[in-house]
Amino acid sequence: MQPSNKKPQDASSIPDATTTENRGEAGLVTAGRHFLQIPGPTNVPDRILRAIAQPTIDHRGPAFAELALDVLHRVKPVFGTSGPVVIYPSSGTGAWEAALVNTLSPGDHVLAFETGHFATLWRDMAEGLGLVVDFVPGDWRHGVDPAVVAERLAADTQHRIAAVMVVHNETSTGVTSRVPEIRAAIDRAEHPALLLVDTISSLGSIDYRHDEWGVDVTVSCSQKGLMLPPGLGFNAISEKALAAAEGARLPKSYWNWAPFLEANERGYYPYTPPTNLLYGLREALVLLESEGLPAVFARHDRHAAATRAAVQGWGLEVLCADEREHSSALTAVLLDEEHDANKVRQIILDRFDMSLGAGLGKVSGRVFRIGHLGDFNDLTLAGTLSGVQMGLELAGIPIDPDGIRAALEVLRA
Ligand SMILES: Cc1ncc(COP(=O)(O)O)c(C=O)c1O
Repeated sequence: MQPSNKKPQDASSIPDATTTENRGEAGLVTAGRHFLQIPGPTNVPDRILRAIAQPTIDHRGPAFAELALDVLHRVKPVFGTSGPVVIYPSSGTGAWEAALVNTLSPGDHVLAFETGHFATLWRDMAEGLGLVVDFVPGDWRHGVDPAVVAERLAADTQHRIAAVMVVHNETSTGVTSRVPEIRAAIDRAEHPALLLVDTISSLGSIDYRHDEWGVDVTVSCSQKGLMLPPGLGFNAISEKALAAAEGARLPKSYWNWAPFLEANERGYYPYTPPTNLLYGLREALVLLESEGLPAVFARHDRHAAATRAAVQGWGLEVLCADEREHSSALTAVLLDEEHDANKVRQIILDRFDMSLGAGLGKVSGRVFRIGHLGDFNDLTLAGTLSGVQMGLELAGIPIDPDGIRAALEVLRA
């Protein structure tokens, strides 16, 4: 093979993610920061980026043990647990798999709900692993109905259902399921099923309490409310789930909790840990601690209320159809059949250098999603909604321009 004449790329020629060089077709925007308003990955605060940029250290030395023990301790309140939390080098999908393979056996029955795209993917995974999934159909506009949980479990007199799988915040629809009511339904049916909850786009943004709500495995990851880049997956584990793990026979190796929990006791990992992301996680946890979780949740609630005020003010529809289930992390906006939501997103990217979430699966082209979670303040939201309003107008969608005013009123209040 001939050696290449191409000069190696020096760092200065690599597009900077905070500028527009690699984004948009019209090339009209040349300065300022990109607005990353998808519902994850979210914007990473500079403090966290700087923490990640520290030198990587020996993962078998005492400095690493100090870091890991600190992070494993500080992460617990974010899950609302005093029990163990395993932190994998993985995406959220890996943490989904870990929750299933550590607690279940081939042929086990599980109850799951079609709340949207991610609930459907988790169902697919469970089936692929050899579980039998009772998948309750849904319209992608509602969360899990606790009455249906109660009904299905009451009908399962043989206690064949080993676990109930719930996506707390369905990122594809902006609908948040009511986990305490689901727990109460399981208890009312006096059913022993485990409760497995995906908090991938709610943790650190929407109130969540693993212990108080009696959740057995809480699944999460780094790139949403925790304001980190992708790369960390989490399982918070109840005592009941730990006991179930003793008898769980689904094959596992990388995801096995047992060697993790043993090594974590001393601040170590059973394999090479994601050291630099753990630096970032420590910084993120300090940021959340200093704001205080109740204030973090209240901030997200306010921004979600302002976003809904804008959408309703524009005369458009929010996809979530139940007042009790509006997501505080993102809002999915439903367009009528004549208008293509992807075209609106493209115009906004080209003209205003802002990325919005696409409609996924069944709602592809019908919705766009505004992420308002993570490192986000009033003016980030005001800028985001201004960009959306201008994009809608440029796309020729008839809207009431007072929408933005309605949002600003909520922010000012
Ligand atoms: C609710 C939910 N579950 C699971 C996933 C999958 O996570 P990942 O893409 O990190 O594997 C996502 C991703 O956005 C999600 O939003």
